Amino acid sequence: MGKYHGKATTVVKPKTAEEVSKIVKHCCERRIGIVPQGGNTGMVGGSVPIGNELILNLGSMSKVRSFDPVSGILIADAGCILQSLMDYVAPHNHIMPLDLGGKGSCQIGGNVSTNAGGLRLLRYGSLHGSVLGLEVVLPDGTILDQLTTLRKDNTGYDLKQLFIGAEGTLGVITGVSLLTPPSPQASNNVILALPSFDNVLPLFKTVKQQLSEILSAFEFIDRTAYDLAVKHGQGRGLHDDEIKGAECFVLVETSGGRREHDEQKLNDLLETLLTSDEPLINTGVLSQNPAQFSSLWALREGITEAVSKEGKAYKYDISVPLSTFKDVVDITREHLRSKGLLHEKGVKHVIGFGHVGDGNLHLNVVADAYTLEIQNALEPFIYELVASHKGSVSAEHGIGAMKTHALHYSKSGVSIEWMKKLKQLFDPHGIMNPGKVLEMP
Ligand code: FAD
Ligand code: MLT
Ligand code: ZN
Repeated sequence: MGKYHGKATTVVKPKTAEEVSKIVKHCCERRIGIVPQGGNTGMVGGSVPIGNELILNLGSMSKVRSFDPVSGILIADAGCILQSLMDYVAPHNHIMPLDLGGKGSCQIGGNVSTNAGGLRLLRYGSLHGSVLGLEVVLPDGTILDQLTTLRKDNTGYDLKQLFIGAEGTLGVITGVSLLTPPSPQASNNVILALPSFDNVLPLFKTVKQQLSEILSAFEFIDRTAYDLAVKHGQGRGLHDDEIKGAECFVLVETSGGRREHDEQKLNDLLETLLTSDEPLINTGVLSQNPAQFSSLWALREGITEAVSKEGKAYKYDISVPLSTFKDVVDITREHLRSKGLLHEKGVKHVIGFGHVGDGNLHLNVVADAYTLEIQNALEPFIYELVASHKGSVSAEHGIGAMKTHALHYSKSGVSIEWMKKLKQLFDPHGIMNPGKVLEMP
């Protein structure tokens, strides 16, 4: 994003958990801060040092340790790239339980550390459910081996859950055991053009009812986000006549057991949507082959890249009630206009897209440059807006360096106090990713 810069002089790239342990012990004894780093694709500056901490990059720990094709349980080094793991399990007819636009660079350890959500959460749930075990090097160098492959294990506190989403503040994840689902026999997708945002909620209801068990993604793209993706060559856009009058788009994916059955269900859905008295959609375009399937996904997954080609992005990754998605985007745009910042002073676009099915909106403000004036207009304005809806200031990207001051909008004082006690307990010298997630004294 070009937004976060540290002053580190040293990067280490250990190859084994034992090497990680020795490095961390060395740093602990000398009180040297450490920033665990995966693929460096995070959105909130979590993998970037604030000062001159040591960067501990997991990129050289990239071996699959084991895979059981019967249970689908995969054990991998934390530095394995998500796409490589997808490729590894595919011939065994399995898929990774998560997918996201950064798959070509992000690492499974980084995914677990951010509790990344992404495009498949609607179907396969969060990593809190899919991760069966972890191997973690604690801030004093001890190796905590909880790399279990058990589906069921109620032997007291489930420590691994603490490291899922801890953003490297409690230890370094070196190994991950996770459950991979069987590959669907058939996957289809369709892009729907909607005349009005008001149709998104009833559409979601209808889609869930009609597609039921085969629905695997329901992603929202507003018109500006769509136009930006097309402008910057991401995926395949619709024809001009198909997008005429469309206020927003929804990408629906199905993953099921029988192609004909799934296609029939999708065609029935389209018929319902187009032929009802007040049609919920203007048009719907079904992918006809694997290339079109990938191209529709590329359009959705390419929004991040399109935004960064267009300018500098102020990214707000929030959970708010689905019915308020459009209001939140419109209110933010009007707020920037009222401050004289829209168009005149560098703000080019205010866009909304994201994981509607999970209540997760990506509100992006695209500007010519990062300026204090824009920043001050956006914060705490957006965080207060989110809090007014009892939402979350970070749905899936984490807190990192960006939102430590905003944590209180979504977490109570008691919660923050106990988070700080836990941090103190695991990392009494504060060497593990200092300045991230929590503002410690
Ligand atoms: P990094 O960015 O390197 O690190 C992220 C955080 O985890 C840091 O705090 C770092 O210190 C810590 N960390 C990394 N590895 C370890 C480790 N082994 N042990 C301990 N701590 C560690 N996120 C979503 O949730 N959903 C999406 O749909 C999504 N889409 C994306 C699309 C694009 C194009 C991009 C660029 C990013 C997207 N992201 C998304 C952001 C997401 O957080 C990251 O892509 C990913 O989960 C981070 O993995 P990483 O290996 O790059 O971690
Ligand atoms: C996405 O859903 O595409 C991502 O989380 C990335 C982003 O917010 O830019
Ligand atoms: Zn996302």
